[in-house]
Amino acid sequence: MPTSSTAPPRGYYGRHIFFCLNERKNGEESCSQHNAQQGFDRCKKRVKEAGLAGPGNVRVNKAGCLDRCAGGPVAVVYPEAVWYTFVDEQDIDEIVDSHLRDGKVVERLLLPPDVGR
Ligand code: FES
Repeated sequence: MPTSSTAPPRGYYGRHIFFCLNERKNGEESCSQHNAQQGFDRCKKRVKEAGLAGPGNVRVNKAGCLDRCAGGPVAVVYPEAVWYTFVDEQDIDEIVDSHLRDGKVVERLLLPPDVGR
């Protein structure tokens, strides 16, 4: 099917969010020590309940270290390449409702651009 020249390119999923769930055993900080798994689980649940999951829509995936550990827990949304950090379930809900559903970036949860490992 031809696409409009003004339409953004679309992948298999409309949006894809990756959560770092890395767990270091050597005593160094990692996202798993900061409720990363809970954030991932909450996101999966909310996306599914909202009917957003699936091809052409939203996919929630686990990831290993994304090398931005100092801001952990971290998650990144594509295709916009927007990086987030979060604390609780309300933060996750806002990312789902605002960004994943409505395409509006949640400015208050953005990971500062200079945060690295
Ligand atoms: S441990 Fe999560 S970004 Fe590195």
